Amino acid sequence: MGLWHYFSKNEDKRALFIFNLIAPVYHLIDKGTKNNYIKMAALLNSYISLVGNSILDVGCGTGSWISALGAYKLRKSVGVDFSLKMLRQAEKNHPQTEFIHQHGEHLSAFADNSFNIVTASFVLHGMKSGKRALMLSEMRRVAKKLVVIHDFHGRSPLSVEVLERLERSDYVHFKKHFKDEMEAAFPAVEVLNDENGNALYIGHVDK
Ligand SMILES: C[S@@+](CC[C@H](N)C(=O)[O-])C[C@H]1O[C@@H](n2cnc3c(N)ncnc32)[C@H](O)[C@@H]1O
Repeated sequence: MGLWHYFSKNEDKRALFIFNLIAPVYHLIDKGTKNNYIKMAALLNSYISLVGNSILDVGCGTGSWISALGAYKLRKSVGVDFSLKMLRQAEKNHPQTEFIHQHGEHLSAFADNSFNIVTASFVLHGMKSGKRALMLSEMRRVAKKLVVIHDFHGRSPLSVEVLERLERSDYVHFKKHFKDEMEAAFPAVEVLNDENGNALYIGHVDK
């Protein structure tokens, strides 16, 4: 993919270009987020005991979030991403986890209700609301109990604001409207915040 994809109006092409480009150095970001991911996984485990559950992580990147959740003796864990370069890093970092190449809005490898919990960590703020709605609906189809979105909520450090603008994400709109979008997609929603401007948006799948 060439540099012109960064300027593309096609949000998939632009995101894929960016994540393929930064995959080899993404471990530097993982280092910075590791402790926070461990805390957020513990917060989720205090909401619902994760032990024995099956979890699908959509937009898994290099595998940090699914690995933090994996501390809770899951029955099964699978990560999917549309960037092959991110997946290659994930396979190297976490050889015990299964990783599959999939687009989040077409989870065609998975049957309805095939995982107890379906998550996405810092994926949905990167796309526009129409695409988010498609991805939430696909995640809901595959989930038996919960869809959990780990993402931005309150104020973030200036460095994050700058990076999100460079990434040309939907960060500002996301923070204002995402809870409403979740409430439109699920019969019941709860939001658990931390003190660092992040949250778990939990959608209950009432089937
Ligand atoms: C900011 S990274 C987060 C990675 C990981 N979830 C984490 O929390 O460390 C966003 C990831 O979502 C993936 N992604 C973005 N849009 C996607 C889509 N439509 N389908 C699948 N993966 C997607 C990117 O390739 C990238 O790996």
